[in-house]
Amino acid sequence: MILVDNIRNGRFKTGMTDEANEYSSSLEFDKVIFYSYIKTNFAHTSMLKHEGIIDEETADNILCALDDLKEEGYDALVFDPSVEDVHMAIENYVTSKIGPQAGFMHTAKSRNDQVATDIRLVLREKIIDIQIGILEFIEGIVGMANQHLNDVFIGFTHLQHAQPITIAHHLMAHAQALKRDYERFEDTYKRVNLNPLGSAAMATTSFPINRELTTKLLGFDAYLENSMDGVSSRDFIAETVFDLTSLCTTLSKICEELILWSTYEFNIIEMADEYSSTSSIMPQKKNPDIAEIARAKSTIVNGELVTILTILKAIPYTYNRDLQEITPHLWNAIEVSQDTLSVVTHMLLSVKFNVERCSYLAGRNFATATDLADIMVREKGIPFRSAHKIVGRIVNEATSNNMLEEDITSEFIDNISLELSFDKLELSDDLIQKALNPVENVKIRNVPGGPAPEMVSVAINNINLFLNDEFEKKGI
Ligand code: ARG
Repeated sequence: MILVDNIRNGRFKTGMTDEANEYSSSLEFDKVIFYSYIKTNFAHTSMLKHEGIIDEETADNILCALDDLKEEGYDALVFDPSVEDVHMAIENYVTSKIGPQAGFMHTAKSRNDQVATDIRLVLREKIIDIQIGILEFIEGIVGMANQHLNDVFIGFTHLQHAQPITIAHHLMAHAQALKRDYERFEDTYKRVNLNPLGSAAMATTSFPINRELTTKLLGFDAYLENSMDGVSSRDFIAETVFDLTSLCTTLSKICEELILWSTYEFNIIEMADEYSSTSSIMPQKKNPDIAEIARAKSTIVNGELVTILTILKAIPYTYNRDLQEITPHLWNAIEVSQDTLSVVTHMLLSVKFNVERCSYLAGRNFATATDLADIMVREKGIPFRSAHKIVGRIVNEATSNNMLEEDITSEFIDNISLELSFDKLELSDDLIQKALNPVENVKIRNVPGGPAPEMVSVAINNINLFLNDEFEKKGI
């Protein structure tokens, strides 16, 4: 095999020490950009040929060698210690196939614009994969919500009983968060899908390159208009990783709920055995380990974002080798997020809700008290603040005397009302019981965004329209 002269041979008399070489090499992570490297060089060489910057025969030979490499794959590359990164290994490969004319492929191109282009090419595909994963998760949640449209459930604030909702309403809250996570990627994609190629080292080139052509060949929306920005901007990476942290925050919150809900104390859901572990000593244990690991792994992505931002803030224009250290954190953030998205999707969709327990909780602990106050306002015309005070006292007395919702009578309410210097309310017992009924509570909240089954159905229809549109856009 003929190797090109090591690029150091002109400027230096010696190579780097093995230690320095190994320390600074990006080879371990360059594997990710291998195919996009070939794609970029294909476009660049085709453009050089089209513009008559290199002769046709040389260009065709380079293109043929790149085709062979695509067939043979990454393992065809030879990584001797002088090879700093995949760029040089590929140039060596092409040289081994066609001789020194391979050197023309680097005309009007630097590793600086090359690597920025390669990362963007890989990233845009990964973004689409993640988006499809999110759409599939939303689709699964919507299916689950449809099965629980009428199943009342307790909503929490401060992790204390708040107001009745339905299981569907709760699930659809997660679906909405995931929809926004999806949309964030959609927006970021616009800033990822831009072409740095042609920026060369940092100040473009003296050759008459055609950036429109490489932009078109690589499927970018446009080229970056400033070559210094082209080689050194990595905010598209920070932005993508922020989107991942946001997605993982949604996933982690879901896990947190699954962990709480599956406790003996909550007893709201049953986790599938497939996503549970047991103890080596306590034979009765069913532990939600996968949810716990997902909750922790999402933290890794937060760490990657901070690492990336911290590297970026100390970089003067233009390319500095620090930028190389950003890329592995991007790939790791993507891998962790994708794995987490997949496992959390399958885990949530295998959960069984304890519908009876959900309904029981919704009707207890005076979670329906707001409606009792609301009927005082509606039926008797008293200000909400007065009703709030009366009902607060009703709950206080009832809980101190171990009374349940069904023990609240018109007489009991009127005694309290008088005690607080208000008039008697004379609400009928039927009306009181209706106000304290969780099913009625949910039914009456039929305003947009509310938990009433008809309103949740509207939200489900809307999100289904969104899913259809977006699946179609992604070619699914
Ligand atoms: N491995 C480098 C990176 O990932 C490629 C560019 C190297 N450029 C240079 N001037 N040493 O950023």
